[in-house]
Amino acid sequence: MQHGVAIIPTAPERTRNRDSHYPYRFDSYFYYLTGFVEPAAVLVLIAGAKPRSVLFCRAKDKDREIWDGFRYGPEAARAVFGFDECYKIADMDARMPALLADQPQVCCHLGSDGAWDARVLGWLNEVRAQVRTGVAAPATISDVHTLLDEMRLIKDAHELATMQGAAQISTAAHQRAMRATAPGRTEYEIEAELLHEFRRGGAQSPAYTSIVAGGANACILHYVQNDARLNAGDLLLIDAGCELDGYASDITRTFPVNGKFSAAQREVYELVLAAQAAAIAQVMPGAGWNAPHDAAVQVLARGLVDLGLCRGSVDQVIESGDYRKFYMHRTGHWLGLDVHDAGDYKRGGDWRKLEPGMVLTVEPGCYIQAGDDIPDRYANIGVRIEDDVAVTASGHEVLTQAAPKTVADIEALMRG
Ligand code: GLY
Ligand code: MN
Ligand code: MN
Repeated sequence: MQHGVAIIPTAPERTRNRDSHYPYRFDSYFYYLTGFVEPAAVLVLIAGAKPRSVLFCRAKDKDREIWDGFRYGPEAARAVFGFDECYKIADMDARMPALLADQPQVCCHLGSDGAWDARVLGWLNEVRAQVRTGVAAPATISDVHTLLDEMRLIKDAHELATMQGAAQISTAAHQRAMRATAPGRTEYEIEAELLHEFRRGGAQSPAYTSIVAGGANACILHYVQNDARLNAGDLLLIDAGCELDGYASDITRTFPVNGKFSAAQREVYELVLAAQAAAIAQVMPGAGWNAPHDAAVQVLARGLVDLGLCRGSVDQVIESGDYRKFYMHRTGHWLGLDVHDAGDYKRGGDWRKLEPGMVLTVEPGCYIQAGDDIPDRYANIGVRIEDDVAVTASGHEVLTQAAPKTVADIEALMRG
């Protein structure tokens, strides 16, 4: 945006029931630009000959601060965060038309919140109503998220360090969960171990609802009930990661409840691990987004044929899509402030090329539900292995390496 005004609000507080709220989480775009974590705040960026940043935020309020805690207020927000101007949020409707006057375009995000859309259009109409006084109204409305998505896709050193911190806490949590797992315990008890370690490590919250799925539950991709008892002889799939200072981690590990893989579990597990290694090896600058997925599918398809789960040649299994019966999701996604982070996967119809500073997950899996046309020994085995991988100048760095994933390392940790 060369000339114009961008308007970026943070997220609203949301009611959970009656007068209780969900834990507050700021808007990722707003936080990316400001670092400001209070609710009821709006950033206005003015681009052009005299660029400036304007924040609207809650006024200081001694009474409210006794109940709800500290708030900066415009004066301190300006001093601490370095905005050019700060005003009370209560004055926003009165001030906004002047900020929009004589600007060629307004850059905002419409379509997610009807009340917000109406408010923006209200300000625009106020400016349009002044045209006979010589004021020009913005002629173009463009999407600010599209602009910011590309910026968010490339992480700077500070963001990478934060993501490394999130990864460190989450790998410790997975190790704690492995140590705590035993036949007779419950999925929610293991979830509690993860949450304990997240918070103990300084993370503010999980980055998404933890999946703690024993036995057949591992074949339900978004299983979050986490209320079943764990049985000896089953695998446990845990997909869990914390959010640290706004940034997500996203890790999956799968391991035996009793600490020792059965022969059949091991066959499937080693296959997924090989698929993941092949996929991670593709992560480097210049590689296409889909290269890791293609590599994983190649390994999985061969393995599914070898295990007798798919019939035909490897090429036929890939061509026909038969492998999708056991591997129905994609191999990864961008990771950052959002667990499924901002950024396009294709450019001009082609998969985009990886660049240093991008962070993605690599998470192949294999999910074998009990059914007629599979060998019994594989029934209800669900495996996913997921790591967070940063693209570096020379290749990649696996941020979540510390969570054990070879059969030998997992069995050794669980024995200990
Ligand atoms: N935990 C969400 C995902 O793996 O994509
Ligand atoms: Mn993921
Ligand atoms: Mn995940």
